[in-house]
Amino acid sequence: MGSKEAFLHAIFFVLLLLSLGCKCLASGLNATEMAVLKVDASPQLARKIPETLFGIFFEEINHAGAGGLWAELVSNGGFESGGPHTPSNIDPWSIIGGESSISVATDRSSCFSQNIIALRMEVLCGDCPAGGVGIYNPGFWGMNIEDGKNYSFVMYAKSLENTNLTVSLTSSDGLQNLASASIQVAGTSNWTKLEQKLVANGTNRTSRLQITTNKKGVVWFDQISLMPSDTYKGHGFRKELISMLLDLKPRFMRFPGGCFVEGHWLRNAFRWRESVGPWEERPGHFGDVWGYWTDDGLGYYEFLQLCEDLDAAPIWVFNNGVSHNEEVDTTAIAPFVKAFPYCFLQDILNSLEFARGSANSTWGSVRVAMGHPEPFPVKYVTIGNEDCSKIFYRGNYLKFHSAIREVYPDIQMISNCDGSAGPLDHPADLYDFHVYGDSNTIFSMKNKFDSISRSGPKAFVSEYAVSSNGVGRATFLASLVEAAFLSGLEKNR
Ligand SMILES: *[C@@H]1O[C@H](CO)[C@@H](O)[C@H](O)[C@H]1NC(C)=O
Ligand SMILES: *[C@@H]1O[C@H](CO)[C@@H](O)[C@H](O)[C@H]1NC(C)=O
Ligand SMILES: *[C@@H]1O[C@H](CO)[C@@H](O)[C@H](O)[C@H]1NC(C)=O
Ligand SMILES: *[C@@H]1O[C@H](CO)[C@@H](O)[C@H](O)[C@H]1NC(C)=O
Ligand SMILES: *[C@@H]1O[C@H](CO)[C@@H](O)[C@H](O)[C@H]1NC(C)=O
Ligand SMILES: *[C@@H]1O[C@H](CO)[C@@H](O)[C@H](O)[C@H]1NC(C)=O
Ligand SMILES: *[C@@H]1O[C@H](CO)[C@@H](O)[C@H](O)[C@H]1NC(C)=O
Repeated sequence: MGSKEAFLHAIFFVLLLLSLGCKCLASGLNATEMAVLKVDASPQLARKIPETLFGIFFEEINHAGAGGLWAELVSNGGFESGGPHTPSNIDPWSIIGGESSISVATDRSSCFSQNIIALRMEVLCGDCPAGGVGIYNPGFWGMNIEDGKNYSFVMYAKSLENTNLTVSLTSSDGLQNLASASIQVAGTSNWTKLEQKLVANGTNRTSRLQITTNKKGVVWFDQISLMPSDTYKGHGFRKELISMLLDLKPRFMRFPGGCFVEGHWLRNAFRWRESVGPWEERPGHFGDVWGYWTDDGLGYYEFLQLCEDLDAAPIWVFNNGVSHNEEVDTTAIAPFVKAFPYCFLQDILNSLEFARGSANSTWGSVRVAMGHPEPFPVKYVTIGNEDCSKIFYRGNYLKFHSAIREVYPDIQMISNCDGSAGPLDHPADLYDFHVYGDSNTIFSMKNKFDSISRSGPKAFVSEYAVSSNGVGRATFLASLVEAAFLSGLEKNR
């Protein structure tokens, strides 16, 4: 998007996958009619488009990341999803064995202070069933365990007595054993990190992870992970999914949302700082807009790594103190505010230092420790998501804008306010334009940007879709209309 003649930046909304069913093709098309399309490709009619016109928007929505692109197979690996008050819900974990032989409950005994919840498992049977008793995790609607593949299992455990555990990958009913290993927990009052490689000798797409034992006694568990060892470049992305993103050849990637950035409530907004560093120490959070918990294995660092792997310019969308239901007053945004465990303004400057700072800067050193000595080239940020109409949006925006401009003069800043409607009342390099509607509305907008001023901030069309009026699970008409809208952007009249 650096190109001077560039003015439009449109994206594919990759999360809405379009399926072209034959039902659509059958609707009202007359087989005896012939359509003729004439294309005038003469050079004098050609328009230059920037290399960066097309990119993607990646939001943690519908498990696009957790249970999707992010290859972690365990869901709620740290037992945090039930909240800080114990005993808490451990969904989707469950027990193997009856309640007379095993009892589990969360407590606050973890060795990780940011995610203090751990699981205490008490085995009550002295003469346990042959297969043992224990716990299992079905992952995200079952784990796709594949024959011949290697899996890396990691967990933290504590037991006052020496205890042998069996870790297995099995079918959802536990009957088909695809991989198994014995792990010894040495009896101490300390937590121990235990690692085990598992090689599957069969395939089942709805498998689960089991941890079982025959030994009477108490074992605590925390931060349990199972990752296939063949992720893309070893970066944790599922190969078959990232290959589809690579095929799109996105030149930029907007992340991590969307409403995921705002939250209905600020406490549930995405917090970059709690999503970096060792995965074991990340608290995870409940994305209250899309209604599910994520362990934040796919965090800020991994998003930046994903951009690099896709050769896409990162477009980091951050929260500027605005959620759906509450806002931080502009007068309170700059100094540290006790009411929120967070200084929004400094926190965002820190996120940029994390991405771009040298190895000896406070946050740059965290990036380096995570394995990326080179800076990530963050050149674009979006201040908020769809928040222009919020009371404190503009005031907060200006604070962020001037703070970032001062430290990072080259960073392009993207406003939430619609610059196509008229000049903006605040400085911006680009404005974020979103549109959802029925097919007529979107089609009628195919020439929308033809008459927009070329001198103001540039348009960044980062979300668009035919989303209503019978679109259902995508139709041919909806696809065609979105294509028409996009070709309007591409024409760049
Ligand atoms: C289909 O085309 C035929 C031949 O042109 C015409 O007679 C007929 O009315 C058309 N039907 C519809 C539904 O348009
Ligand atoms: C699994 O790991 C073993 C050695 O650790 C290696 O020889 C084998 O190729 C790996 N298999 C796959 C499918 O990666
Ligand atoms: C635990 O397993 C190891 C190796 O499989 C074995 O040598 C040991 O006797 C077992 N200990 C107990 C208490 O069962
Ligand atoms: C996977 O496990 C389920 C549940 O036990 C079983 O019904 C199914 O046949 C298994 N699939 C394969 C491919 O073995
Ligand atoms: C696969 O491995 C498990 C665990 O070691 C074992 O119980 C099972 O019999 C093996 N299955 C096959 C088909 O080899
Ligand atoms: C437990 O951890 C403490 C603090 O790290 C350490 O001093 C102690 O030696 C450990 N004890 C055992 C038995 O490993
Ligand atoms: C940090 O590193 C940069 C280059 O790597 C160097 O120029 C600078 O002097 C260093 N700053 C400090 C405070 O060590």
